[in-house]
Amino acid sequence: MNGNPSTSIPPEVLRVKQRYSIIGNAPALINAVQRALQVAPIDLSVLIIGESGSGKEFFPNIIHDFSARKHSKYIAVNCGAIPEGTIDSELFGHEKGAFTGAISSRKGYFEEADGGTIFLDEVAELPLTTQARLLRVLESGEYIKVGSSEVQKTNIRVVAATNKNMLQAVSEGKFREDLYYRLSTVQINIPPLRDRGNDVLMLVRKFSNDFAEKYGTPAVKFDEGANDAIMRYRWPGNVRQLKNVIEQVSLFEAGTTVDAEHIKRYLPQYGTDYKPTVASAPVFNYTQEREMLFKLIFKMQNEIDGLHSRIDSIMGARHAGGQNVEDNGKIHSLVKYTQFKPSEIEDINIENGAAEDVSVKNDVDYAEDGTGMTMTLEDTERETIKKSLERNCGKRKKTAEELHISERTLYRKIKEYGLE
Ligand SMILES: Nc1ncnc2c1ncn2[C@@H]1O[C@H](COP(=O)(O)OP(=O)(O)OP(=O)(O)O)[C@@H](O)[C@H]1O
Ligand SMILES: [Mg+2]
Repeated sequence: MNGNPSTSIPPEVLRVKQRYSIIGNAPALINAVQRALQVAPIDLSVLIIGESGSGKEFFPNIIHDFSARKHSKYIAVNCGAIPEGTIDSELFGHEKGAFTGAISSRKGYFEEADGGTIFLDEVAELPLTTQARLLRVLESGEYIKVGSSEVQKTNIRVVAATNKNMLQAVSEGKFREDLYYRLSTVQINIPPLRDRGNDVLMLVRKFSNDFAEKYGTPAVKFDEGANDAIMRYRWPGNVRQLKNVIEQVSLFEAGTTVDAEHIKRYLPQYGTDYKPTVASAPVFNYTQEREMLFKLIFKMQNEIDGLHSRIDSIMGARHAGGQNVEDNGKIHSLVKYTQFKPSEIEDINIENGAAEDVSVKNDVDYAEDGTGMTMTLEDTERETIKKSLERNCGKRKKTAEELHISERTLYRKIKEYGLE
């Protein structure tokens, strides 16, 4: 816990946090934002240092947007993603015939972004030859296109980022020492998530609300034990990992209150020493997956019902279980699909309110229990309502909320399916 009231944060930092949706009040994070704001108007190179997933990418944007270059171009380049053979040409351009396949000359990013800012992400991955070219641009603004002998000038500000230990890279001969010092005239350090105290729980709340909205599910709640487990975890993948975990929890535990045991299933290597490995996805059981699919199907079915009613009223026809839309093109095909296996749903894609892209495999044996039984939409609906009622201890208001239907519809369905 860091006990850092947001009241002591300068108003300009609060505004930046809001503009870029940066969550957290940890002093080290606030310092980083403040430093970015201070250095933005001064035309110096900046090096952003922080572990993977810690949120480095906000900072070059802040620096550009608060500089005099804000109306010029901002180009972000991921140096680690460009093959060694083409990176010089990507950054500095090439002349026609410079290499096999260079059928015309091409501008590089340093020419494209002239007058603006270039963000060199994963800068430690630059090959040594490219490092030499970069040093020259930083020192004199000069560069030479690949295959050319003509010196060109550019006026560009460089902001770089890395999650590597640069001094180690220098000592191992992988990164030029002179370039390191030139790049890091100003350094901004982004703290790892595990050192940000209560920010972790603020991020959990923010992401669970965002994902609930994205997936149209009720937001997950976390009990004290879960919060405690979240706070104790070392978050090797930082905010990116936390966001991933909350997305999975929001999908698979929608509408429930998650406890410590539950949340630990989503946290690899819980309780072991910190090892910065890539977090592996948790294993979900079939029941969880099926329940989630039930919910999605239930939501889809409500949407389909809504479509039927709308079509009926438009056509002035009496609603008769969808029969009266039989001649109505593709919408009709929705009505036919009454039998399916939830886990066999494929390519569900309702775009712009059109229903023609919904394709569901039908007539498939659904044999979770080995009976070869096929589930109908009614079975699915009944099952979904039953599960939701159980989860909400029979409370109809909560159940209706969770299922996104009115209480009146819920009463009717409970009666219809004999679930009293
Ligand atoms: N303080 C924060 N508030 C809200 N979202 C955040 C915060 N920090 C990071 N994120 C989110 O976490 C994710 C990872 O952040 P980002 O891509 O900036 O990481 P990074 O430091 O660049 O990692 P890498 O070194 O792997 O490139 C992004 O989706 C980002 O929006
Ligand atoms: Mg990044």
